Amino acid sequence: MEREIEVFQSLSGGGHPSIVRFYKALQTANNLYLFMEYCDKGDLKEFIATRAPLTGKLPEHEARFILCQVLCGLKHLKDRSGIMHRDIKLDNILVKSKVPHPDSIEHYEFKIGDMGLAKQMASSPDPTHQTMCGTPLYMAPEVITGAKYNYKADVWSLGALLFQILTGEYPFTGKNIDELRFNLKQGIYKIPNNTNLSLECIDFLNCCLKHDSKKRKSWNELRLHPFLGSSDSR
Ligand SMILES: Nc1ncnc2c1ncn2[C@@H]1O[C@H](COP(=O)(O)OP(=O)(O)OP(=O)(O)O)[C@@H](O)[C@H]1O
Ligand SMILES: [Mg+2]
Repeated sequence: MEREIEVFQSLSGGGHPSIVRFYKALQTANNLYLFMEYCDKGDLKEFIATRAPLTGKLPEHEARFILCQVLCGLKHLKDRSGIMHRDIKLDNILVKSKVPHPDSIEHYEFKIGDMGLAKQMASSPDPTHQTMCGTPLYMAPEVITGAKYNYKADVWSLGALLFQILTGEYPFTGKNIDELRFNLKQGIYKIPNNTNLSLECIDFLNCCLKHDSKKRKSWNELRLHPFLGSSDSR
């Protein structure tokens, strides 16, 4: 928790609309309290379960709207403070309504929360880290194999997040961590037959879920991708 407070405090220039706002920390004899912006709709996992109880997935235009905001938040973390989040997943994206009776997707804001695993990258020109952390099903191949990694590991997790929003499934799974590692190494994932996606969307997923992190696109490149072209990016 101390690390989470440090990360929030190091976010230079105050807040960003796509990052949950941190107000203050309060230490009592037995507890440490973090005062944060309240996101009344909880996390993205709960949001999808309520919005699409039968399918557990959202249509492409809604996924795009969410993705734009999360991407801008992650880009801000990297550009302004050199921070990798390292735990992007449905549970760590918070949802806040903008109007009293929200309905369409534009009535909500999506914000990155849970900085518990976030890490400030070293200030070398090409900083890398090696600690294995995060949630295995969202982990980039270089993280799960214990290799050096950089912010491109968040790019992978964003791709896994988008895949899950669109299909209700994970791009790569396994009965155990070894099988997951093996499947990641094969690098082949399949979009379920019951999910129709545009070519731009499929290409965007491919750009994020590239096995070789050097070939994986940067935040700046992704921001200009045609999939996000017609959407409001912050
Ligand atoms: N600012 C907030 N507004 C509304 N709900 C929140 C907020 N922060 C966290 N939550 C809810 O609490 C859950 C857990 O918060 P968070 O991800 O920050 O902690 P965590 O360390 O992952 O805890 P846990 O191990 O319980 O998941 C979130 O998934 C979300 O449902
Ligand atoms: Mg969490």
